[in-house]
Amino acid sequence: MTRKDIYGRSPAGPNGGGPVPASGGSLARLRRTFSTKLQRREWDVDEKLLHTPPMTRPNTIAVVSPKGGVGKTTVSYLLGNLLASELHMRVVALDANPDFGTLGSLAPDAHRSQRSLADLIAEHERIDSPAQIHPYVSRLPTGLHVLAAPVHAEVMAQLTPGLYSRLLDFLERFYEVLILDLGTGITDPLAQFAVERADHTLVITTPEWITAAGVLGALRYLQLDEGTLVLNQAQMHGKAGNRDVIEDSFQRQAIATRATIPYDKNLRLMLDSGTYELSALRRSTRVPVKELGAEVAAKFV
Ligand SMILES: Nc1ncnc2c1ncn2[C@@H]1O[C@H](COP(=O)(O)OP(=O)(O)OP(=O)(O)O)[C@@H](O)[C@H]1O
Ligand SMILES: [Mg+2]
Repeated sequence: MTRKDIYGRSPAGPNGGGPVPASGGSLARLRRTFSTKLQRREWDVDEKLLHTPPMTRPNTIAVVSPKGGVGKTTVSYLLGNLLASELHMRVVALDANPDFGTLGSLAPDAHRSQRSLADLIAEHERIDSPAQIHPYVSRLPTGLHVLAAPVHAEVMAQLTPGLYSRLLDFLERFYEVLILDLGTGITDPLAQFAVERADHTLVITTPEWITAAGVLGALRYLQLDEGTLVLNQAQMHGKAGNRDVIEDSFQRQAIATRATIPYDKNLRLMLDSGTYELSALRRSTRVPVKELGAEVAAKFV
């Protein structure tokens, strides 16, 4: 089954309409008076993104969670696209999920590479220029490069932290930001390696008590120096009344930054149909995504 079977040849994009016009700040005072709080947040975050301090070396970000299906891949993808499109950084997102990761499938069909990170590991010694990496990665319109997991689980199972370490050393020669989309769990050797190697770790949770309680335990276990907690509403919840309580208990954790991404069915549809665009997100989702990117970028070393 291909994506075309479900979405046809040229998906128009779930929003139907054109991109949401970018907001800027030229008639500043007047516009601010009549603007909504969300608009003002967007102007503020755009300003912050514009003034992102320069980095001094490649930065690695690990995206982890002790729970499955909470949005690790989604957040990796949103963040990677944002850093590439808004900050023009050379970013590669790697599918480091040992269990049939889905990151590679998010790439639009026309841009998707059939090769995987296992191919690049096997052949990297023959590569010494950025152009030679192109066949191995899906190169997205935003500028983000995605390195997919191998299709065969037995190949993935052979990828040890040592091999990943060599791959990351190699990729650091060509990219400024490396994003590792991990599988579920934080105690397995690959996740441990990723968190230790990363300059910054994003821990993803959803608002359910069971998930959040597990994530709190994980945070105590990880003892992160640089971490961001992302509360991602991966599922539509009617009255999941415990969100404030959960946010409250996370406030008490010694984790530097927090971000909350709302549930957005258009986002889900865009991801599934390979038509994701930041500008096509509704502002209530777009602003938190930009804020997450700005927070992470502000911490680059
Ligand atoms: N904020 C959101 N709004 C709507 N849908 C979302 C949101 N975040 C994630 N989803 C959807 O939830 C599902 C699970 O997300 P995702 O694959 O990113 O989770 P994961 O943590 O990577 O899962 P796994 O543990 O299997 O790797 C996907 O269908 C995704 O599109
Ligand atoms: Mg995933």
